[in-house]
Amino acid sequence: MNENPIGIFDSGVGGLTVLAEIKKRLPSEDIIYLGDTAHFPYGDKSKEDIVEYSRENVKTLIKKHAKIIVIACGTATSQAIDVLKEEFNVPIVGIIEPTVQYIKERNIKEIGVIATEGTIRSGAWENKLKNAVPEIHVINKACPMLATIAEEGRALGEEGRQVIKEYMKPFKENKIDKIILGCTHYPIYEKLIDEELGYNVELINTGVTVANSIKDLLKNYDIQSIQKKGSEEVILTKPEPYFKDIAKNILNNEIKIK
Ligand code: DGL
Repeated sequence: MNENPIGIFDSGVGGLTVLAEIKKRLPSEDIIYLGDTAHFPYGDKSKEDIVEYSRENVKTLIKKHAKIIVIACGTATSQAIDVLKEEFNVPIVGIIEPTVQYIKERNIKEIGVIATEGTIRSGAWENKLKNAVPEIHVINKACPMLATIAEEGRALGEEGRQVIKEYMKPFKENKIDKIILGCTHYPIYEKLIDEELGYNVELINTGVTVANSIKDLLKNYDIQSIQKKGSEEVILTKPEPYFKDIAKNILNNEIKIK
């Protein structure tokens, strides 16, 4: 038993899609969410920058007594998780491993991956998927504009629809029916993707696979909270005008932001 909070970080609002899934499964846990809005977007930054920002985020969350760190960001997971695991003692979970495990368990042989430029460039998804399922065919598509449009609260307008149309071409042409949302901002686009593809497609939300794995991890380390109802605290490294509204849409309730 441990009443310290779960620490989560992302470059902005995207990681709230992960927070939402964690809250559903672990309602008694306190959560501290750090959005590194001062450095958003991570998707076009160098690996060195991503590692440095991520290191600072982990330090901030540890100062707030986080008992476990969730990297709710595909870009930071793809480029910084190994360094962070080496440097810090606290358990650290990213979005890639639990999702690859899900794919492996279901023995999926063909998969689409959409993510930021940096994540796709790192090859992290493709390498880990191929290690887990050697014969898997992976179709990668970098979607550089999606996180920014979502962060600025414009995802569900005409602009969102147009970019989704463009980015979905390789999947639509090949009727790919399973796509990993490899950036935590992307669940915001689920409906638009479904509409654009027009056939039955499984959009794999990494927040779900991560939240399930955290539930097991807390149990294994025996660090679950046993209080009745957990709380959330959100910290941003720079004030962000759209954050509150987007957060309300993702979480279906108001949150206080520091
Ligand atoms: N939400 C992030 C991800 O999962 C990053 C988007 C960005 O900062 O470019 O990759």
